[in-house]
Amino acid sequence: MPKKLYIKTHGCQMNEYDSEKMSKLLVDKKNFEITSSEQDADLIILNTCSIREKAQERVFHQIGRWRKIKEKKPNLKIAIGGCVASQEGEKIIKRAPEVDIVFGPQSLHKLPELYDQQEKYKKSQTDISFPKLEKFSHFTAPEHGTPSAFVSIVEGCNKYCSFCVVPKTRGHEVSRTCEDILEEVSALADNGTSEIHFLGQNVNNFKGTFKGHPSSLAELIKLTAKIENIKRIRFTTSHPHEFKDDLVDVYGEVPELVSHVHLPVQSGSDRILKLMRRRYTAEKYLSLIEKIKSVRTDMSFSSDFIVGFPGETDEDFQNTMDLVHQVKFDESYSFIYSARPNTPASEMSDDVSHELKKERLDILQATLRRYAFGYSRKLVGKKIECLVMGRSKKDPGQLQSRSICDRVVNFRHDDIDLVGQLVNIQINEALPNSLRGELGN
Ligand code: SAH
Ligand code: F3S
Repeated sequence: MPKKLYIKTHGCQMNEYDSEKMSKLLVDKKNFEITSSEQDADLIILNTCSIREKAQERVFHQIGRWRKIKEKKPNLKIAIGGCVASQEGEKIIKRAPEVDIVFGPQSLHKLPELYDQQEKYKKSQTDISFPKLEKFSHFTAPEHGTPSAFVSIVEGCNKYCSFCVVPKTRGHEVSRTCEDILEEVSALADNGTSEIHFLGQNVNNFKGTFKGHPSSLAELIKLTAKIENIKRIRFTTSHPHEFKDDLVDVYGEVPELVSHVHLPVQSGSDRILKLMRRRYTAEKYLSLIEKIKSVRTDMSFSSDFIVGFPGETDEDFQNTMDLVHQVKFDESYSFIYSARPNTPASEMSDDVSHELKKERLDILQATLRRYAFGYSRKLVGKKIECLVMGRSKKDPGQLQSRSICDRVVNFRHDDIDLVGQLVNIQINEALPNSLRGELGN
């Protein structure tokens, strides 16, 4: 009987990508079967996130819940991966001895080996090393492609924004080669994937090589667009500092590149941006937005914001709001600043009360929601191109698709053969979290 694997993923798209790869590895190498029930599992993996405080506490609460299953089923193994694992290492096992394996984002390909070692020695195993890009040589393409697939192109980060733990948990920035990436993209395209979503903390700083020469994200996008069956290309996350002119130009050259970009600004105050070590000013950010729009007029932008950075004044916050009103962002993410261990910002004095931070976040989020909904409403009555992803989970009589700006668009149809195709949808209704329409021609 094959053993059963259950994986739970917290955090970012990079973690989703990593989780997919580890499931495939354990299915191929250790003959595991995937289960959606924790109770049935022989191995439970938690792929963790440490970007904000609560995410970390969630890990220990989750382990606590699984401890109860393990009490009844002593052979159950629990493995903790991702950024909390990378940050805490052995300390996880000290605090939660029922954990059998601890591994990091760069050592996940060692899971089958760690699993065997744990079985053999009946002793918990930890490997949170950073062997550069080694994991990619262990990955294989999925047998069944999904309409849209993530492909990691840059691992780690060297930016060291003063608030962020990622450079410590995911290691130094390192780019894969174009050949390696294009091989993965071609395999996905052969298996039915139409949309490629490039991932990295700082994808626009991609510094891989092509035929031995230094390459760029702009070149990689052009090469990807030439692969048969690839209809759409996206990338996240971009750092505004590295959004070079050649990348802006690609919007005028490659129609497969979507008219939407996620460009985290974090704050609209130059004083705070400097303290955050973001390397741009609000004005520079705004001029970049204008530059991209001058090449593609229908561009939409989403962003990340941190509210309540240490010492943020009313004026700083107002600068952020002013920037929001200027850009009129499409959907965005916003968070209250959370002090992270061993980061420079965690040493900065902070006299802003939590209540005030919460108040500012509420104001920002209400405004962001208003713009996002306004953006959705503007699409009503228009015909937009969408990629069909599958049946709607809530209503199997409808198909679910994604617009260029990554909005969920549902439409009534039962032809499952449309999955993976780009179709024109006439938008009839804007709902808070999705759009509804009908198939056009
Ligand atoms: N590489 C991306 C960000 C990755 S982290 C970039 O360059 O922007 C994703 C988002 O989490 C960040 O954009 C930021 O808005 C938020 N974030 C990161 N550290 C945080 C912290 N200490 N407190 C609150 N939010 C944080
Ligand atoms: Fe974090 Fe800044 Fe890198 S937000 S991931 S250190 S670009």
